[in-house]
Amino acid sequence: MDRPSRFTFGTARTDDPGERTHVDLVRRAVERGAWLHGAATYGRSLEVIARVAADGHRPRLIAKSRTRTPADLRAELDQTRRRSGLARLDLVQICACPDSALLAPGNPFREALEEQVRDGLVGGYLIELFWQFCEPLDAVLTDDLFVGAVTYLSAFNRELTNDAAERLSAAEKWLVALRPFCGGRLLDAPTVVAERGKREERDGRHDAKFASLGELASDLGIASLRELSLRFLLASPEVATVVGSTRRRSHLESALDDVERLDPLPSDGVDRIRALHAEWWSEAGAGYTPNTSTELPVEPTAPAGSAGPSRAGKTGLGARLRRLFGG
Ligand SMILES: NC(=O)c1ccc[n+]([C@@H]2O[C@H](COP(=O)([O-])OP(=O)(O)OC[C@H]3O[C@@H](n4cnc5c(N)ncnc54)[C@H](OP(=O)(O)O)[C@@H]3O)[C@@H](O)[C@H]2O)c1
Repeated sequence: MDRPSRFTFGTARTDDPGERTHVDLVRRAVERGAWLHGAATYGRSLEVIARVAADGHRPRLIAKSRTRTPADLRAELDQTRRRSGLARLDLVQICACPDSALLAPGNPFREALEEQVRDGLVGGYLIELFWQFCEPLDAVLTDDLFVGAVTYLSAFNRELTNDAAERLSAAEKWLVALRPFCGGRLLDAPTVVAERGKREERDGRHDAKFASLGELASDLGIASLRELSLRFLLASPEVATVVGSTRRRSHLESALDDVERLDPLPSDGVDRIRALHAEWWSEAGAGYTPNTSTELPVEPTAPAGSAGPSRAGKTGLGARLRRLFGG
C-alpha cells in the first residue's frame, strides 16, 4: 500500500463540475502529487474528479463509506468508482464507526470489505474515529485490513479520547488528520493574544483555547496558528497525511509547499499542544459514554429556527463539545 501524499486535498467544497475553478483546483492538486479525499455525499465532487481523470490523470482517492450491510457497501463503492471515473479506490474510510462485531472475522460485512481488496477494487481501509465512536479501536489496531484511522486532528482539535490518542500514537498505523486549518477559523497569533481578554469574556472557553495556542505560537516565534497547526501535524509521526481544503489556488500552492518546506514543530511545542489536548479532553469528556451501537448515528432533525442538525448526534455532550471545540 503506497503512503498517501503529505497533504491530501479535500474535495467537499469543489463540488461543481461545471465550475472551472473547482476542476482546476482538483487538477492542480493531482498534478502536484496530492491525493484526494472525497465522498458520494459531497455534492457533485466525484464528477469533478472524473473530469480530472478524463484528462489522463490518475487521481488517488480516499473515499468515505457510511454503509453497514454487504449489499450497501458494494453498491456504494461501485457508485463512487463509477462517478469518479476511477477503477480503484486507494483507501476507503469506514465512517460513523461500526462496533467491532461488524468487523470481526466471519461477519458478512467484513467479508464484503475483504472481497473488495481481493478483487483489486479497494487498496485498504481506514476506520473513522470520533470521541464517541472509539470502541473498535482495539480490534483495528491489530487488524491488517485496516491501515489506520481518520479523525479531526490539528493544533486546535483532537476528536479522540485521551486513551484512544495514546494507543493510536503508540501503534504503527496511519492516522489521517482531517481539517488542519480548523475549517478556516485561523487567526494570526498576535491578534489572538491581544484580543484574549475580551474574546474570553464574550465567547468563553473556545476562544481561550485559541489564546493558549496563540501564546504558544508567540513563544516559539511562529507567525500564524495555521503554521503552528501544520508544523504540529508534521511533527506527529503517526500522521500519514493531513486532509485540508481551499477554494483558492494560492492557498492550495502554499499548503502543498508548506508540507514540504516547513520544519516539524520542536518537541517541546508538540508536548505543549498534546498537554492542551489532554486537558481539553479531560474537561469535555467527563462522563462520556462510548457509543457501541451498530446503527448509524441518527442525524437529528433541526427544529424550526434552530442552528441546524448536529453532527455529533443527540447527546448533550455533543453540544457541549461543540461549544468547547467549536466543531
Ligand atoms: N468526517 C469526515 O470525513 C470529514 C469531515 C470534515 C472534513 N472532511 C474532509 O476534510 C476536508 C477539509 O475540511 P475543511 O475544509 O473543513 O477544513 P480545513 O482544510 O481545515 O479548512 C479549510 C478552510 O481553511 C481556509 N484556508 C486554507 N488555506 C488557507 C490559507 N493559506 N490561509 C487562510 N485560510 C486558509 C480555507 O479558506 P479558503 O477557501 O479561502 O482558502 C477554508 O475556509 C474536506 O474537504 C473533506 O474532504 C472530512
